[in-house]
Amino acid sequence: MPDPKGLERGLTNYGDRDFAAFLRRSFARSMGISPALLKRPIVGIAVAPSGFNNCHRSMPELTEAVSRGVLAAGGLPRAFPTISLGEVFLAPTSMMFRNLMAMDVEEMVRAQPMDAVVLIGGCDKTVPAQLMGAASAGRPAIQLVTGPMMTGRHRGVRLGACTDCRGYWAKYRAGTIDADEIAAVEGELAVTAGTCAVMGTASSMACIAEALGMALPGTAAIPAVHSARLVAAEETGKAAVRLVGHPLTPDRIITEKSVDNALRVLMAIGGSTNAIVHLAAIAGRLGIALPLERINRISDETPVLVDLKPVGDGYMEDLHAAGAVGAVLRELRGLLHLDCIGVDGATLAERLDQPGGWVDRRIVREFADPISPVGGIVGLRGSLAPDGAILKRAAATPALFEVEGRAVVFDDMEDLGRRIDDPDLDVLPNDILVLRNAGPQAAGMPEAGYLPIPGKLARAGVKDMVRVSDARMSGTAYGTIVLHVAPEAAVGGPFAVVRSGDRIALSVARRRIDLMVDDAEIRRRLSAWSPPPLPTRGYAALYRRTVLQAPQGCDFDFLTGARSRD
Ligand code: FES
Repeated sequence: MPDPKGLERGLTNYGDRDFAAFLRRSFARSMGISPALLKRPIVGIAVAPSGFNNCHRSMPELTEAVSRGVLAAGGLPRAFPTISLGEVFLAPTSMMFRNLMAMDVEEMVRAQPMDAVVLIGGCDKTVPAQLMGAASAGRPAIQLVTGPMMTGRHRGVRLGACTDCRGYWAKYRAGTIDADEIAAVEGELAVTAGTCAVMGTASSMACIAEALGMALPGTAAIPAVHSARLVAAEETGKAAVRLVGHPLTPDRIITEKSVDNALRVLMAIGGSTNAIVHLAAIAGRLGIALPLERINRISDETPVLVDLKPVGDGYMEDLHAAGAVGAVLRELRGLLHLDCIGVDGATLAERLDQPGGWVDRRIVREFADPISPVGGIVGLRGSLAPDGAILKRAAATPALFEVEGRAVVFDDMEDLGRRIDDPDLDVLPNDILVLRNAGPQAAGMPEAGYLPIPGKLARAGVKDMVRVSDARMSGTAYGTIVLHVAPEAAVGGPFAVVRSGDRIALSVARRRIDLMVDDAEIRRRLSAWSPPPLPTRGYAALYRRTVLQAPQGCDFDFLTGARSRD
């Protein structure tokens, strides 16, 4: 007997299938849906609107447009909510809740009677969570992103969240702008619905979703408030109905090859370091690893082509107008796996064989004329980070790539907050700032890796220093910042026992980050070290007990490699 579809799929277990189907039909009719429509294939629409998520403000309109497309193509749309992760409204950090949302998505997609699902998300953690959940749920799925914000204006200068948030805040800290000006800037940084306007994490994940083949071609960069975004939503609804007839589950789309393609695009767009963690988690759901060596190989072969903040000057609205992800893929064509298939059923080769439109070369450079000949992100290893660390070289200061300096260690974020602006802090411009106990287990891995320049140095004009942590940093941030040190301090390892005054050596050329302390001394220090206490109840306890390290994408150990139970 063929598997039940539509409303008959996955019946509630009463011990009587026919009764369960009868009951479900009867309750569905109470929603005022005609029996004819109830017989159609069902497309679920996973939505995450929230009064605590500005980036999802346009979700009702998008849901309506997706529904329109589903109905037009002969399906029955059914929107359903999941939790919503508004980046700046969550404490201690949205990262702690990405896996919770991924579980919510996976279980609700699997538990409810839908033949395919459209995932609408945008803010940093929502697209990773939706793709992780969909990969594990095993139903045909399409990602639709909410799209980026438009820019604001301040004294004739374009502003967009959140590279400019950081730039202006640094000026305010250094005393070069006053309280009135920073208050005026506050009202111009995030001026429309949508996700952060630069190539931060949300934009990087949108481009990755398209490069993986999980979003329709051409949809990643359309601004949230552009009419084309609604058309993309309608088309996404239609495509979801087509998927029902020709089931292409995420495991056929997210493969080693498409993950490679996504990594290449991430490098070429100068994308966020966070995207490495999220891509590792998405791929990990299908048993695909993302070793540092692969990241470095792809980074070394792939030029940075897209001139957006924080690496360059433009904003996502410029990328949309410049030719969008399609223009980037065309430039990278010779490096891509062209046999990868997307949710529209076409191979990448078929997509790129279509004529490309006009490209604004100020924003998307030709392969032969890159912004940088190598990719934006590199992996590091060494005695300070035996399991790896990440540096966004495209947003760093090349003069700081080959240095050795004295460590100035902050034990945790409270310690950092207490001492960073202390006029008596023993710190010099060529020191290396270290923040530990901000990793996944210790703190949920907040975006605390962008340590501020100590107040007295900032006022003296110091703009960048080498900073090292087991935390993440916002994709909109910049500086010579080594992140995701693994193992994190809370699970032991050399990072747990580095002390102020130790020497640290960074070599981007050799991909090394080393603690210049001999092994015997590190072992001696570790023998006297004890781990911090873990929470004992609720989600925090589950998180801390089961979260994996950054190289495994900070997924839960019991969720990786998961397959559909269908
Ligand atoms: Fe949502 Fe930046 S706060 S994308």
